[in-house]
Amino acid sequence: MAYETILTEVRGNVGLVTINRPKAYNALNSTVMSELVDALAVFDADDAVGAMVLAGSEKAFAAGADIKEMSGKTAVDMFKGSFVDSWDAIRAIRKPVIAAVSGYALGGGCELAMLCDMIVASESAKFGQPEINLGIIPGAGGTQRLARTVGKFLAMEMVLNNRTLSAAEAANFGLVNRVVPVEGFVDAAVSLAQEIAERAPTAVQIGKEAVNHAFETTLAEGVAVERRLFQLLFSTEDRTEGMNAFVEKRKANWTGK
Ligand code: CAA
Repeated sequence: MAYETILTEVRGNVGLVTINRPKAYNALNSTVMSELVDALAVFDADDAVGAMVLAGSEKAFAAGADIKEMSGKTAVDMFKGSFVDSWDAIRAIRKPVIAAVSGYALGGGCELAMLCDMIVASESAKFGQPEINLGIIPGAGGTQRLARTVGKFLAMEMVLNNRTLSAAEAANFGLVNRVVPVEGFVDAAVSLAQEIAERAPTAVQIGKEAVNHAFETTLAEGVAVERRLFQLLFSTEDRTEGMNAFVEKRKANWTGK
């Protein structure tokens, strides 16, 4: 399918989605959001794809929700609109999605990166929640995911006083998995995604589901869900193959069954 605001390609077993609105620093308008949801869902349903990378440009992952599009909206428009649904749909993607972040990841851009499962940042990445400058607060999970990731106090400073984080600071506070040179930052994310795509597919997807429970439930509930998912994996052919391969000292041949 031809998209207006994003580019898609498959590299090896990795589906790469690139936000492409250079004139607006990749601001997330409704077209970008619906195209992102569509492209990620297509890769999620493709057995040849094991993991995805969501990238922006060197200058901007995304500078947030599109302020020009939002500026005329009422509370009822925001309530009725599909803006929130798009974020939920991205959250529901089963395969791992790695954000490749360079330049600005502000507002909804920072929230979109946090909605992904891992973040590879270039040395120029800059994370922030500047919504306070617009008289609003983050509306796509930012206050919650930041607090759970970097802790209450830094999250407060970012949300209430537009404190931004450099890539090095973000790494220090556990907001990104690794920092890489600007040149080749997408390749670095794709190569991490390819490593994951070569692993047992069902276990990878169930592992993502289990870790996400840590964000969304109590410890007791999360541990109970993990236990059931762990037990479920004992019904898969990949579990038998993985353990046989270990005992027979050979490489496992994963089928996803
Ligand atoms: N929405 C719409 N357009 C945007 C945009 C955004 N979030 N960010 C940048 N642009 C547009 C600018 O309007 C400008 O367009 P024109 O050339 O047509 O005027 C173009 O991109 C270039 O921007 P600047 O001239 O401002 O470039 P700069 O280099 O001086 O600054 C910047 C870059 C720091 C990213 C600055 O553009 C900026 O602060 N952007 C807004 C960031 C922001 O507030 N994000 C939060 C949005 S609200 C949100 O995300 C809510 C939520 O939780 C979901």
